[in-house]
Amino acid sequence: MLFLACALLMLTREMPCFASSQSPSLVAPADASNQTRNEELEALLTWKSELDSQSRYILSSWNGSNPCSWRGINCDPCGRVVSLNLSDSAIHGTLHYLNFSLLPNLVALKLANNSLFGNIPPSMALLAKLTHLDLSQNGLSGSIPAQLGSLRSLQVLDLSNNNFNGPIPNEICSLSNLTGLFLHTNKLSGFIPREIGRLKSLNYLLLVNNRITGPIPSSIGNMSSLIKIRLSENQLVGAIPSSIGNLSNLNYLSFRMNKLSGPIPSSIGNLSNLNILHLNHNKLAGPIPKEIGKLRLLIELNLYLNNLGGFLPIEMNNLTSLKNLQLSNNDFVGQLPQEICSSQALENFTAASNRFIGPIPRSLRNCSRLHRVRLHNNSLKGNITDALGVYPYLDYLELSNNELYGDIPQKLGALFNLQKLNIAGNNLSGSIPIELGECSNLLFLNLSGNNLDKSIPVKIGNLQSLQVLDLSQNFLMGEIPRQFAQLHRLEILNLSHNQLSGSIESTFADMVSLTSIDISYNELEGPLPNVSAFRNATIEVMRGNKGLCGVIASLKPCAATKSEGKNKNKKLLLLLIPTLGCLLLLLLVMGILSIVCRRLRKPKPSSKDGSNENSWAVLNFNGCILYESIIAATKEFDAKYCIGVGGHGSVYKVQLQTGEAVAVKKFKEAMEVEISSRKAFQREIHALTEARHRNIIKLYGFCSSSRHSFLVYEFLESGSLKDVLNDEERITAFDWNKRVNVIKGVADALSYMHHGCSPPIAHRDVSSKNILLDEQYEAHVSDFGTAKVLQPYSSNWTSFAGTFGYAAPDGIYMLESKAGVSSKHAASVSRNIGT
Ligand SMILES: *[C@@H]1O[C@H](CO)[C@@H](O)[C@H](O)[C@H]1NC(C)=O
Ligand SMILES: *[C@@H]1O[C@H](CO)[C@@H](O)[C@H](O)[C@H]1NC(C)=O
Ligand SMILES: *[C@@H]1O[C@H](CO)[C@@H](O)[C@H](O)[C@H]1NC(C)=O
Ligand SMILES: *[C@@H]1O[C@H](CO)[C@@H](O)[C@H](O)[C@H]1NC(C)=O
Ligand SMILES: *[C@@H]1O[C@H](CO)[C@@H](O)[C@H](O)[C@H]1NC(C)=O
Ligand SMILES: *[C@@H]1O[C@H](CO)[C@@H](O)[C@H](O)[C@H]1NC(C)=O
Ligand SMILES: *[C@@H]1O[C@H](CO)[C@@H](O)[C@H](O)[C@H]1NC(C)=O
Ligand SMILES: *[C@@H]1O[C@H](CO)[C@@H](O)[C@H](O)[C@H]1NC(C)=O
Ligand SMILES: *[C@@H]1O[C@H](CO)[C@@H](O)[C@H](O)[C@H]1NC(C)=O
Ligand SMILES: *[C@@H]1O[C@H](CO)[C@@H](O)[C@H](O)[C@H]1NC(C)=O
Ligand SMILES: *[C@@H]1O[C@H](CO)[C@@H](O)[C@H](O)[C@H]1NC(C)=O
Ligand SMILES: *[C@@H]1O[C@H](CO)[C@@H](O)[C@H](O)[C@H]1NC(C)=O
Repeated sequence: MLFLACALLMLTREMPCFASSQSPSLVAPADASNQTRNEELEALLTWKSELDSQSRYILSSWNGSNPCSWRGINCDPCGRVVSLNLSDSAIHGTLHYLNFSLLPNLVALKLANNSLFGNIPPSMALLAKLTHLDLSQNGLSGSIPAQLGSLRSLQVLDLSNNNFNGPIPNEICSLSNLTGLFLHTNKLSGFIPREIGRLKSLNYLLLVNNRITGPIPSSIGNMSSLIKIRLSENQLVGAIPSSIGNLSNLNYLSFRMNKLSGPIPSSIGNLSNLNILHLNHNKLAGPIPKEIGKLRLLIELNLYLNNLGGFLPIEMNNLTSLKNLQLSNNDFVGQLPQEICSSQALENFTAASNRFIGPIPRSLRNCSRLHRVRLHNNSLKGNITDALGVYPYLDYLELSNNELYGDIPQKLGALFNLQKLNIAGNNLSGSIPIELGECSNLLFLNLSGNNLDKSIPVKIGNLQSLQVLDLSQNFLMGEIPRQFAQLHRLEILNLSHNQLSGSIESTFADMVSLTSIDISYNELEGPLPNVSAFRNATIEVMRGNKGLCGVIASLKPCAATKSEGKNKNKKLLLLLIPTLGCLLLLLLVMGILSIVCRRLRKPKPSSKDGSNENSWAVLNFNGCILYESIIAATKEFDAKYCIGVGGHGSVYKVQLQTGEAVAVKKFKEAMEVEISSRKAFQREIHALTEARHRNIIKLYGFCSSSRHSFLVYEFLESGSLKDVLNDEERITAFDWNKRVNVIKGVADALSYMHHGCSPPIAHRDVSSKNILLDEQYEAHVSDFGTAKVLQPYSSNWTSFAGTFGYAAPDGIYMLESKAGVSSKHAASVSRNIGT
């Protein structure tokens, strides 16, 4: 009788035995369940006996005759095994020796996070009462047996994080009580079954990180209970079905990292409970539908790395819950949504590498929760000075390669968490704010390619976490602060193309982490520091300075330069005073020079005559001596020294006292006539001095005084290509090998100017008269009087210059299409066309 009562009760599983109206005393171990128990016992012990010794040790409690007290076993009140939970138990073995037919009452089988291997035995289908099956985080493999489709009671199927392969069996789709299907992180392939829409109870569908191909079936819209769907990291193709809009309970949708194409369906606006929308890393195209504005609960919108384009819908400003907005690497145009942070919820905002124009959204000013802002590689325009606010959590700020201008905001100093600041490649002016020295967590600082001037603030030396510092391509002057010595973690330092002066020997001595250094094209001098970054450096990262000396090949040894310098210095002062009218401007440092000149005129004795002397030197020539020598050697530019006449002036051959010959191109009038903007001129000369190439004529110096303006070049013996071609005698010696070599040299030079120089330079007048030849008939491109630096914001690149018939195709292109093409594009056009 007792057995019968219990057996009847057990048929309706929900009711435990003691829940009956009968007294609990009835629930004694019933003798008729002995047989079942023995079978269960046998099944479990058989399995244990086939495991390795370590696993058997873990299951050492599996002894005796009452499995209900064993580790991981739960029984119902009638003493039948209903649950086997050995999750996280480090069991090593297979499922093959577990005789499922002997465990018919099992409701839950949880073996997650063990070291099970082999495949799932199809006999698992015999667990007819099973509601929870969790085999996740093992090493199971093979395909998912179709027989699992007969586990009709199954509510949760978790096979994630194994090595299962093959397709998802259609039969899974008949598990109508399934609420969670977790198959992520396997090697599943094939299509998503079309019948998947039958899983109407499903709340969670996770197929992430498999090799599933084919389209997302539109039946997905029938899974009306779905709360979370993640199909990411597969190879799904085709469009997102518009039926997706039927999933009104959906909270989390991720299709990222697939090959989905087509538009984002506007029905997505119906997902009124959506918090997370990740569609990044696909091939989606077209605009963002305006319906997206209806997603009032949306917290994360990740659309980066697609082919999306067009204008952003103004309705995006309605996304007031948004914390994370990622739009980078698409083809969006127009302005960023100005009110995107009006509710001040935004934390992470990236829109890099699109074609956005206009200002940084004004709502960002009071967006105090910002963590990361990445808006680089666009055409954002506007004054940055007041565009940013105070962001206590900000750790990344990247605004590089836009068209922002103004001063670097001092407020940046209040960004204590800032780790990366990159605002390179804009047009920012003024000085580097001292306050930056307060950003004590900064690891990466890049301010290169701006118009920053004045000296580098001493406080930059306080940035003791700094690993990368790039201040190159500005107009920074003065000495490198000695406090740089405290940058013990600095690995990469680029200060090239500035106007920095002074000695560097002591500054770098303690930079123990430094591996990469570039100080080229400054006014630095004195011995190199004896640290490994310099010992290993090549001449390229040192060149273009005034008086660096040291152990690196082709630098002068140190002792010699010092004594020589003092002698020259005395001569210099004697020569200089009578010719006060001379305002000798250096190639790179017109600004510095005028200051130095002014100082020298004043009686105030300079404490550092040595360095002043050197600042007059122009690429190994002493500037003022050179000036006087040239005047003297040409008897004030007497016509008999003239070797050629061109549009801008005449060229003279000058034999210096040193025995060296130079070519001097004297301008008809002062340079100022031709150059409207002093700054643009500086930049242009600056860039021209960068053009150091075997096949480009060496420009030694530049002088502009009240009387004369001239350029000093290297002198080439063989004259111009035109001369040679017009000379009956020499043309016979100019054989095809030499001709090809000349063409190759010119091509090399132009390629270098277009690709090797940043910003690129267009010569705009390459003709035979401007190609000079040395004794070996090696070509040297000369006459940069009409050259243009292809710099953004220069308004004059469209004007035509040069000799018709010879001008480069890009020059003509510019002439013909003055309107509407940005100079950025002009640069790329010239790169593409080449000459
Ligand atoms: C059933 O089990 C009980 C207690 O475990 C035992 O006393 C009894 O002899 C068993 N009956 C049979 C038929 O094995
Ligand atoms: C059997 O299990 C009990 C705990 O359930 C344990 O104390 C005992 O050592 C085990 N015996 C053997 C032989 O493993
Ligand atoms: C299963 O076992 C693990 C580890 O022993 C435990 O954390 C978890 O709560 C158990 N789950 C159930 C449903 O008993
Ligand atoms: C897996 O189980 C081990 C114990 O065997 C445990 O240390 C580890 O934290 C578990 N891992 C997870 C992800 O639960
Ligand atoms: C499982 O147990 C049943 C009943 O004892 C038996 O017929 C069957 O052969 C067993 N299966 C395996 C694989 O051992
Ligand atoms: C499915 O769930 C419903 C409601 O919980 C239940 O009545 C039904 O018996 C379940 N189906 C199966 C096959 O377990
Ligand atoms: C969705 O379900 C309905 C009825 O349950 C069915 O008629 C329809 O075909 C299903 N849609 C898809 C796309 O499977
Ligand atoms: C489900 O989606 C389809 C396709 O978008 C639509 O035609 C249908 O009306 C939707 N059904 C419901 C109940 O919203
Ligand atoms: C969404 O934005 C548009 C345009 O900005 C506005 O007209 C509309 O009222 C907003 N919708 C809601 C529901 O606030
Ligand atoms: C924003 O980025 C930070 C990392 O800087 C991260 O910790 C945080 O979870 C992100 N916030 C959101 C909403 O994604
Ligand atoms: C940028 O804005 C600041 C503050 O409003 C202003 O002082 C500065 O002149 C502006 N700079 C430019 C270049 O417009
Ligand atoms: C310098 O070069 C040496 C030898 O090539 C190498 O072992 C060392 O790591 C280099 N040091 C740095 C700072 O790059």
